[in-house]
Amino acid sequence: MAESKSKVLIIGGTGYIGTYLVRASIKLGHPTFILVRSPTPSDPAKANLIKSFQDSGVTVLKGDVDDRESLVAALRQVDVVISSVNGEAVASQVKIVEAAKETGTIKRFIPSEFGNEVDRLEIDFKVLEGVFQTKSSVRREIKKSGIPYTFVISGGFAGYFVSNLANDNVSSPPRDKVTIWGDGTTKAILNTEEDIATYTIKSIDDPRVANKFLHIRPKENTLSHGEVVALWEKKIDHNLEKTVVSKEELRKIIEETPFPANILHAIRYSIFVKGDQTNFQLDDNDVEATELYPDVHYTTVSTYLDQFV
Ligand SMILES: NC(=O)c1ccc[n+]([C@@H]2O[C@H](COP(=O)([O-])OP(=O)(O)OC[C@H]3O[C@@H](n4cnc5c(N)ncnc54)[C@H](OP(=O)(O)O)[C@@H]3O)[C@@H](O)[C@H]2O)c1
Repeated sequence: MAESKSKVLIIGGTGYIGTYLVRASIKLGHPTFILVRSPTPSDPAKANLIKSFQDSGVTVLKGDVDDRESLVAALRQVDVVISSVNGEAVASQVKIVEAAKETGTIKRFIPSEFGNEVDRLEIDFKVLEGVFQTKSSVRREIKKSGIPYTFVISGGFAGYFVSNLANDNVSSPPRDKVTIWGDGTTKAILNTEEDIATYTIKSIDDPRVANKFLHIRPKENTLSHGEVVALWEKKIDHNLEKTVVSKEELRKIIEETPFPANILHAIRYSIFVKGDQTNFQLDDNDVEATELYPDVHYTTVSTYLDQFV
């Protein structure tokens, strides 16, 4: 008999990456729950999103990470918790750990990571301390709790770093000129949101990924900024005018740009200049998604760019 699929609660399911996680969870056949602060939001786009989830069979629970009672009640209904919260709620995830300890039934907790491996990089800019150090402290609390976990190290989202060639104020790859961060040769890892969500959901019932870091590192998607731009130039069959922003110039931009606009620059520095996504080797605590799940036909950066030609 086929094993039953875990029931999954996604906290942050109405957010950017959360929406992909909910869709992947449904697609892979998991009974799917979301915890939302407002089940009937005034924002019509969010209301429509929640309605579309409900139409697909998602159970919508009202609650808040900061409301213990709602959290415990939600956790009692599921086996696995995935969090994709943002901002201040990243710190509040310790309350999810506390609630999971209270219920004692959570088989896996996947906290809101979906980015760089924050314990294997040096934080260069104060602006990144908040979120990186908080993610790290949440990890420590999860490990202490004994609740099985997976930390998803996803690389950069394609919608943030590929659809615009990591440039400002464009929603599709530019056709005339482009800014290159650093010398353009540092390797980054860039994945589509759909693939990140698929690998995350595939991992939740997989014992090989319990208490591990799940890295999503397709070889074809391990590319420098210069290589991404070159792929695009080949597709549109002409070269872009390039403005190179040196490492030193980017540092100055980060220091002079007010918060929160400086966050994105600091992340660009981390991934395209310093190489924080690729400058460490995987070890015994790490597993790699494309090796674990060769059946997933992930989207390469090249294929992703095709939609914009
Ligand atoms: N690798 C990359 O390129 C990349 C890019 C962006 C983000 N990320 C990471 O992805 C993760 C999620 O970010 P995102 O941009 O997807 O976030 P987002 O779009 O801002 O969505 C956050 C979600 O969390 C929910 N939420 C916030 N506070 C909550 C609370 N107290 N209780 C319950 N729900 C709460 C929000 O609900 P409401 O609908 O009620 O607001 C929303 O659904 C973060 O860890 C972030 O660092 C990575």
